[in-house]
Amino acid sequence: MLAASKKDNEMDKTLVSRLQALEPLMWINPGLGPTASVQVPVRPEQVAEAEKNWRLLGPLLQHCFADLQHSGGVIASELTEATDLATAMGKAPGRYFVKGDHALPVAGSVKARGGVYEVFLHALSLARQLGLIAPDATPSELASDAVRKKFGGFTVAVGSTGNLGLSVGIAARALGFRAVVHMSADAKPWKVTRLRRHGVDVVQHQADYGTAVASARQQAQADSTIYFVDDERSELLFFGYSAAAAELRDQLTERQVPVDANHPLFLYLPCGIGGAPGGIAYGLKQVFGDHAHCFFVEPAQSPCALVQLASGLKSVVTVYDIGLTNQTEADGMAVAEVSQFVAQVMQPLLSGVYTVADDDLFRWLALAQEHAGLQLEPSAAACLGGPQMLLSTAEGQGYLAQHGLDACIGQGTHVMWATGGSLVPQDEYQGFLQKGCALMV
Ligand SMILES: Cc1ncc(COP(=O)(O)O)c(C=O)c1O
Repeated sequence: MLAASKKDNEMDKTLVSRLQALEPLMWINPGLGPTASVQVPVRPEQVAEAEKNWRLLGPLLQHCFADLQHSGGVIASELTEATDLATAMGKAPGRYFVKGDHALPVAGSVKARGGVYEVFLHALSLARQLGLIAPDATPSELASDAVRKKFGGFTVAVGSTGNLGLSVGIAARALGFRAVVHMSADAKPWKVTRLRRHGVDVVQHQADYGTAVASARQQAQADSTIYFVDDERSELLFFGYSAAAAELRDQLTERQVPVDANHPLFLYLPCGIGGAPGGIAYGLKQVFGDHAHCFFVEPAQSPCALVQLASGLKSVVTVYDIGLTNQTEADGMAVAEVSQFVAQVMQPLLSGVYTVADDDLFRWLALAQEHAGLQLEPSAAACLGGPQMLLSTAEGQGYLAQHGLDACIGQGTHVMWATGGSLVPQDEYQGFLQKGCALMV
C-alpha cells in the first residue's frame, strides 16, 4: 500500500488508509454549518438571476433545438418515484425519487444545464458587444442569419471528460460558432464521434482532464476570438446548474411531498470537477435551507472533492497525492483535483461525500434498467447508492443522530440525481448492462 504523502497531513490517517484500500465509504463533512449564516464567495440572488435568464433564453432555445419545441424552450427533466428500484437497492422507510437528468434534452446529461446556459449567455453578451443587436434586444434576436454568420468568426472552447464537451459543442454550433472541445484520455469514443457529427473540432489529449482543461485555457488566452468555458472556475456554469433547484421544488410541491424539519430531503449528486453537483446543491440550500442534506458521490479512484474538503482548503490536494490513480469507468467523474471555487462554496454547505466501486456502478446501472426502465451511464448510476450509504454505515447513522433525524427518517425523501446516459449508443449500453448482470450472479 502507498504511504500517505505530506499533503495529507491534515487528513485523518484512517480515512486515508480506507481511501487507499478503495473501500466504498461515507465521509461526513465536519464543516457543515447553518445555511443562513454561511459566508461563501457567491450570493443567493445569483440563483434567482439564473432562473430569470433561463426564462429569457426560452424562445431562442426553442428556436435552436428541435427537442425543445414542445417545452417552450425549457430544459428540464422528470422526477420519477422509484420505489421498486429503491427496494431492489435495499430500501428502508421513506420516499425515493430519481431526478432524470440522464434524459435532459439537447445534451442527454446534467451538463445541458450548465454548458447551454453559459454558451447562450456568452452569445448574447458578444452580440451586444459587437453591436449586432441593441443593448435591450431580447435573446431571440440572435436567431438571424446575419448574427450566425458573424458568430462563425468566433470560437467557443472547452476542456472535458465528455459530457460538458457535448453540451458546449452542441450549443455553440447551434448558434453558428466554431467549437473546439479538448477531451481527456478518459473520453469515450462515441462522445468524440457524436461531437464531430455536430461539426465540432475535437482535440484528443493522451492525458487527464486537468491537462485537457489547461491546454484549452492556454490556447484561448493567446487568441481573443476564442471564448473559453472554464469548467474549473466558471460561475456561469455553476449558476446554470443551480436553477435546477427551483425545478425540483415545483415537482415536489406538485406531488405534495413536504420538506421541513420533520420531512428531511436527502440528495445524492455525482461529482467530477464539482460544478454540476455544487451548483445544484447551492441552489437547493437556498430553496430548502437546512432541510436539504446534500451528498456528493465520487468513484473510489477519484474522490477529489472528498480529499480536498477533508484536508481543509489551505492547499490544493489531489487524488494522486494519496496514491490513487484516477482511473475509473465513470468517465464523467474521472477528475483528480476538484474545482477550488466549488470546494470553497461547498465547504460549509455539503453534508458529506460517499465513494463507489466501479463494479457497483455497473450492478446499479443494470438494476436501474430492470426496476425503473432507466438508461444510465456509469457516472449517473453512482447516485443510486446514496440511501444505503446514509442509512447503513456508521458514519451515515452518526449524521442522522447528530442532526436529530433518526426519529423522522421514515418521513424523509431521497432524491437520486441521475446525471447522464440517454445518449449512450445501444451497443455500448448493452455492454454496460451485460457487465452489470454478470457482476450480480
Ligand atoms: C454523467 C455525469 N455525471 C456527473 C458529472 C459531474 O459533473 P461535474 O464535473 O460538474 O462535477 C459529469 C461530468 O461530466 C457527468 O458527465
